[in-house]
Amino acid sequence: MNIIVTENKKELSQKACSIFESQVRDNPKSVLGLATGSTPTGTYEELIEGYSHGNADYENVKTINLDEYVGLGGDHPQSYRTFMEENLFRHVNIQQENTFIPDGTASELQKECLRYEEVIENIGPPDIQLLGIGENGHIGFNEPGSSFDTETHVVELAASTREANARFFDSIEDVPKQAVTMGIRSILKSKRIVLLASGERKARAIEQLLTGEITEDFPASALKRHDDVTLIVDKEAYQYA
Ligand code: GLP
Repeated sequence: MNIIVTENKKELSQKACSIFESQVRDNPKSVLGLATGSTPTGTYEELIEGYSHGNADYENVKTINLDEYVGLGGDHPQSYRTFMEENLFRHVNIQQENTFIPDGTASELQKECLRYEEVIENIGPPDIQLLGIGENGHIGFNEPGSSFDTETHVVELAASTREANARFFDSIEDVPKQAVTMGIRSILKSKRIVLLASGERKARAIEQLLTGEITEDFPASALKRHDDVTLIVDKEAYQYA
């Protein structure tokens, strides 16, 4: 794993942005794997800024997102579709039909999972996948205990994940109990992976990632089985590593 330690989140976001811009410049038809959460927002801001300066052209880029809450439609304010529209898509020249996110309102969720895995196979796999990490080591919504052998599937969200994400909702009761997520096996199909971690809140998870063993109890440890992972981490998140 390559490790880049930065002073702060701003520098982390700039580094991640420049990796993604180079990818798009090298291959204008790149497939980008994207993530939600508060960590990648700075990266998206940098990409938008870069786009306004002509650093990259997204006309022929395709994107595949990691996950979506079950029960939230694309127009729900807290859906990950809305998050992506607000934080990136509507600010660059990406084509709506080239952006892929699981449908959390599909009437048959199992079928939706299979359909989404076909998207990953047929459109992807991503040339480069952006990832955040949960405080409990989750990636996407693969919670501790998830098999490393899963593809896109429905998950029950851990109580701690619902609590961590409650800040985006009016109350914890409004946080969905399930999500559709790319599995660990789906995520490892990406050609390159860029994992971001920022702030003290993530310091124990980064310590465990870098010093602990590979175990399904800590989903992010599966990334050690991939041969092209770059961890970009700020000083606060790196402090115990
Ligand atoms: C959510 C997302 C993950 C993300 C994690 C951390 O649970 N499904 O993809 O990595 O939160 O979020 P944050 O960056 O806000 O700490």
